[in-house]
Amino acid sequence: MDKLIIEGGVPLTGCMTISGSKNAALPILFASILLDEAVTLRNVPDLRDIHTTLKLLGMLGCSCEYQDGQVCVRPGSLLPEAPYELVRTMRASVLCLGPLLARIGQARVALPGGCAIGARPVDQHLKGLEQMGARFELDQGYILGHCRKLNGAHITFDMPTVGGTENLLMAAVLAEGETILENAAREPEVVDLAHFLLACGARIEGQGTSRIHIAGVSRLHGAEYDVMSDRIEAGTFLAAAGITCGELLLRHCPVNELKAVTLKLQDMGMKITTTSEGVLVNCARPLRGVDVTTKPYPGFPTDMQAQIMSLMCLAEGTSVVKESIFENRFMHVMELERMGAQIRTSGHTALVRGVRRLAGAPVMASDLRGSASLVLAGLAANGTTEVRRIYHLDRGYERIENKLNSVGARIRREKE
Ligand code: EPZ
Repeated sequence: MDKLIIEGGVPLTGCMTISGSKNAALPILFASILLDEAVTLRNVPDLRDIHTTLKLLGMLGCSCEYQDGQVCVRPGSLLPEAPYELVRTMRASVLCLGPLLARIGQARVALPGGCAIGARPVDQHLKGLEQMGARFELDQGYILGHCRKLNGAHITFDMPTVGGTENLLMAAVLAEGETILENAAREPEVVDLAHFLLACGARIEGQGTSRIHIAGVSRLHGAEYDVMSDRIEAGTFLAAAGITCGELLLRHCPVNELKAVTLKLQDMGMKITTTSEGVLVNCARPLRGVDVTTKPYPGFPTDMQAQIMSLMCLAEGTSVVKESIFENRFMHVMELERMGAQIRTSGHTALVRGVRRLAGAPVMASDLRGSASLVLAGLAANGTTEVRRIYHLDRGYERIENKLNSVGARIRREKE
């Protein structure tokens, strides 16, 4: 297992290019199961989760090639089984359920189980697919699903679930008749999936709103598609500029999809300007504390909660963070405290009292965004920080140490 060793205290300056979005690329890759022609995807990030997905697609009968951010998926004769060995390493594997039922009327997908940030059930996925005519049983930890065909339905989610909306959207594009998804997730990654499906001949309206209307078609054709840029990677690098008092120009930064984040960073005292070259961010003054509550899009993303907390640790005054999406997403708190942060948690709320400096320390990464928050803290801390167990980071950030080193950071990767 690898660890990152960070020598802190260097203001980051220069230019970075934002990669393709992991959370948009994953559902789009699973959507390729729906097509009966080859698809070419560009701007696909070179990440562990992407390679896990390509492996799973291979096991499901597709043939996949990845080269320099471009993926070609060719349909084959589909098999229904997504085995536990792959699903347990990546919860998004459950996104093959809707496409498999739509294409071959059967699926055997390992139940993903809980994960570090919370229980994360898939009841909304199953309930919606049942309304479309699928039947499920649980067999030795596997969801067994089957249907003669899927029919359009009027589905109202109990909460706006990103994965649930994506699974149902993929199922509905090939279902017989019309489907309406109410209380749907409005995240930009859901919209990107809809745009990909539209490019393949699907009929969808209302993506980006909480009511999506889908008219089923009998087949989808191949397409070439550019995946959107990663708004969470971009948000993490904006935070890196803030925490090191640096100045960065971010190319391909999806600034319109990051409004809730940029507004908070500006409230903290950062200057963020959109230029013809990209988004310019700098921070000349000490950061100020702010309050943040995570919400479904367009609210403040839970995937940026840990990173903004690192900034709050060094901001003047007291900040309050309320995590309203996942029940256990404060695992970075104890690690930040080991670096000198002053944080008190009570249930879903964290109270952060800003300190003048953080001190480098060995810390343990526990989930993807929590790991990113420790890297940010390490960039600003005095001395050396060792971030251990960074395989989480490699699931979601493309060559993070190379990108940060190219703007002045001093990070090296070592085997533990
Ligand atoms: C997606 O997860 C993202 N993953 C997560 O990204 C992100 O944190 C999350 O959306 C919220 O924005 C991918 O896109 C691959 P949800 P997802 O279904 O789809 C509850 C990252 O760091 N719920 O919107 O699994 C659930 O427990 C990550 O990149 C049910 O109760 O999230 C949670 O509390 C991790 N029943 C809430 O809804 C269900 O059937 C939102 O979850 C489904 C969800």
